[in-house]
Amino acid sequence: MTDQTSLDALEQELLAQVSAAADEAGVEAIRVSALGKKGVISERMAALGKMAPDERKAAGAALNILKDKVTEALSAKKSVFAEAALEARLVSEKIDVTLPVRPQSAGTIHPVSQVWEEVVQIFGDLGFSVAEGPHIEDDFHNFDALNMPADHPARQEHDTFYFNEKPDGSRMVLRTHTSPVQIRTMLSQKPPIRIIAPGRTFRSDSDMTHTPMFNQVEALVIDETTHMGNLKWILEEFCKAFFEVDDVKMRFRASHFPFTEPSMEVDINYSREGGQLKIGTGDKWLEILGSGMVHPNVIRAGGLDPDKYQGFAFGMGIDRIAMLKYGIPDLRAFFESDLRWLRHYGFRSLQVPTLAGGLS
Ligand code: PHE
Repeated sequence: MTDQTSLDALEQELLAQVSAAADEAGVEAIRVSALGKKGVISERMAALGKMAPDERKAAGAALNILKDKVTEALSAKKSVFAEAALEARLVSEKIDVTLPVRPQSAGTIHPVSQVWEEVVQIFGDLGFSVAEGPHIEDDFHNFDALNMPADHPARQEHDTFYFNEKPDGSRMVLRTHTSPVQIRTMLSQKPPIRIIAPGRTFRSDSDMTHTPMFNQVEALVIDETTHMGNLKWILEEFCKAFFEVDDVKMRFRASHFPFTEPSMEVDINYSREGGQLKIGTGDKWLEILGSGMVHPNVIRAGGLDPDKYQGFAFGMGIDRIAMLKYGIPDLRAFFESDLRWLRHYGFRSLQVPTLAGGLS
């Protein structure tokens, strides 16, 4: 058998093996047995060194041709398997994009959650971040630090839920407003401060417009130059964005809160058209929030120097503005978990409110 005949036989043998390979691993095994360090072709290549120059030239050329053919056959076979694997994967991962989404998921987003998110979006856009505080507060944060010492008459206005006395005589409370978050924020952040604090609040009170648990959103701005003009602008921007109207009239009425001086209650204008409330038109007034310039005593209780820092705060009922915006008559129904009510007033779960995409 001449060398060329044995090479031809080897070629046929290897190509036959390649074409019979059952999978990628089989192809790889053939590659190793032919072209690996100890492969048949590699060994023949190594043997070239022992040949006479003329012989080597001819044999080397023939071996290289064989090597190329086998390499090509291996890679062709390999890509057949790779393509088959890809095809199988595409089939297994196929999704039918023409399938319609479920028309309405069973649950809905509660109006409080919806409005909460709308408020966060609007104030987020105005540069406010969200702060939090505990529902169970101590006397200091809920009252004392807010300029309401133990004998202060305003404490009586709050229908507070008290916990049992502790051995030291102190009593924790369910926070009666979100204002304690003002104190917590001042004690933990350096000015300039610009936060809102949405959250649950509690008062022992129940009728059409009061529930023992309700939601407020507090806002606090503290820096060296903030003034009442900033407060009015912020509130106006908020009301226009929230009620989704081009213009809204606001009335600032002098009022009293122990933690602000001066204090203002804020009304917005509305009209009633066929039983529907319309915000931003007409000449009737609705109260929506309490506000004012933060009292120096409060700034001091927050660990800041009132001669250097000043600012404003306001507190607004989330449930209340939800009722106004979405025409919901009775506050108590908010917390009764009546499925018919939830389906009627709830929001679709995939409609996340954003300023760009629309709030409601
Ligand atoms: N905490 C007040 C309330 O619950 C609202 C308020 C907050 C008023 C901040 C002024 C400043 O009624």
